[in-house]
Amino acid sequence: GFDELPGRYKVRSLALAEAGRHQIRLAEHEMPGLMALRAEYGPTQPLAGARVAGSLHMTVQTAVLIETLVALGAQVRWASCNIFSTQDEAAAAVAVGPEGTAENPQGVPVFAWKGESLEEYWDCTEQILFWPEGPEGAQGPNMILDDGGDATMLVHLGLQYERAGVVPPDTLHGEPDHTHEMNVVRSVLRRALEADPLRWTGIAQGIFGVTEETTTGVHRLYQLAEAGELLFPAINVNDSVTKSKFDNKYGIRHSLPDGINRATDILIGGKVAFVAGYGDVGKGAAEAFRGQGARVIVSEVDPICALQAAMDGFQVARIEDVVGEADFFITTTGNKDVITAAHMAAMKDKAVVGNIGHFDNEIDMAGLAELDGVTRTEIKPQVHEWTFPATAERAERSIIVLSEGRLLNLGNATGHPSFVMSNSFSNQVIAQLELFVDAARPEAERAYERQVYRLPKVLDEKVARLHLDALGVRLTELSPSQADYIGVPVEGPFKPEHYRY
Ligand code: NAI
Repeated sequence: GFDELPGRYKVRSLALAEAGRHQIRLAEHEMPGLMALRAEYGPTQPLAGARVAGSLHMTVQTAVLIETLVALGAQVRWASCNIFSTQDEAAAAVAVGPEGTAENPQGVPVFAWKGESLEEYWDCTEQILFWPEGPEGAQGPNMILDDGGDATMLVHLGLQYERAGVVPPDTLHGEPDHTHEMNVVRSVLRRALEADPLRWTGIAQGIFGVTEETTTGVHRLYQLAEAGELLFPAINVNDSVTKSKFDNKYGIRHSLPDGINRATDILIGGKVAFVAGYGDVGKGAAEAFRGQGARVIVSEVDPICALQAAMDGFQVARIEDVVGEADFFITTTGNKDVITAAHMAAMKDKAVVGNIGHFDNEIDMAGLAELDGVTRTEIKPQVHEWTFPATAERAERSIIVLSEGRLLNLGNATGHPSFVMSNSFSNQVIAQLELFVDAARPEAERAYERQVYRLPKVLDEKVARLHLDALGVRLTELSPSQADYIGVPVEGPFKPEHYRY
């Protein structure tokens, strides 16, 4: 069942709101960046007039982000960006709001629950793009806050569909046009057009900009911008240093073992863990496994990252050479077909397979299901045992697949902890402010065009500063002559743009 008020909210149960509110209250204590932004900007309400459509994992941490946007004056509608990542108590608490009750919800319209079907997922994404009839008539959002780019993509596809009557191939996760999910998206687009033949034009024209959370979504934005098809300015939040060098790395270092433990409770120490990809997420994943006492093997396509992994003390190998050796296989590449059905068929008995990159195509789940005689047993939600029948060469054996190949730290656990998300989400709030305030300027004075931008370094440093006190960090100050000597202002920014951290 659901608790639902059409156009207003759809969550698992509003009765969970009180439990969610307690968690949000504790999370606020761990999110000093967001709370400082509330204190700084709350009084002037710089987001008054903003209608933010948010598509980002509906967790406790995201609840603090949503309520920060509201504290700055925004109206907000929210959906999750993954079918398994919602924390139902957080969704309920946001729908009820700090002042409301389960009987009289007064919070933000939220459309999210743990365990959505793909149909439900795209319905929810559509819901955040339509503000119901108000004093000024029905409206779309003027801002998007995205994680992985699905809300942004729906608007772009909708417009193309409206103009040309077709959904171009290869648009969904860069995958060919035949997927079931693409048909789901088509039916959502069609339904919206039946209701209003100029719906997508209206929505697209109303949007001032998007702020994008993750590597995969940023990748899609740069592709749109390069093709000259990006409909509005975008800020790449992921590549703020205080996002990707913290959330992607230290967040994963926490939430990867959390997901594995909650899903399987299998001891990691002494085992062999295979990590595909040694970018920011892969570095956090490999470190987490090593911290638990596993022997870690990394794979990479990029010689620089491969060399980094080797210098950090990890074996670097190809999956086919070690596939029978590892107890855990984790993909962190943001690429597709990294673990194939043939790889899975060659793994040892009870190997654990999971993905922590954004989309589920890193692991070939469709190919696995098509293998001869393979069967699937649900151990519990988001944990499945896939059994391969005995052959002449091998006895029957099975592997454990987490979250059906979708990001396991959010599917099997609750994602990254609050403190690291405070860094990411402070960047999100600042990016929303940047784009929204800029759009209010006369056109000739606007800083942002239909391109992808990063936040200036001084704001990146500001986000870091907001988190120092909570950790007892006492920063050293440059003397004016020292600052002069190394050629930076006393108050920063301290590094040139090309510095890599
Ligand atoms: P990144 O670009 O820093 O790292 C990805 C690495 O994978 C690169 O070094 C690349 O060379 C490597 N790679 C690509 N294809 C490969 C292949 N076939 N085999 C082995 N290595 C390969 O990206 P980042 O920031 O580490 O993000 C990775 C993914 O994780 C993205 O999809 C991102 O959206 C997602 N992400 C997930 C989070 C979560 O909470 N689950 C948090 C942050 C990011």
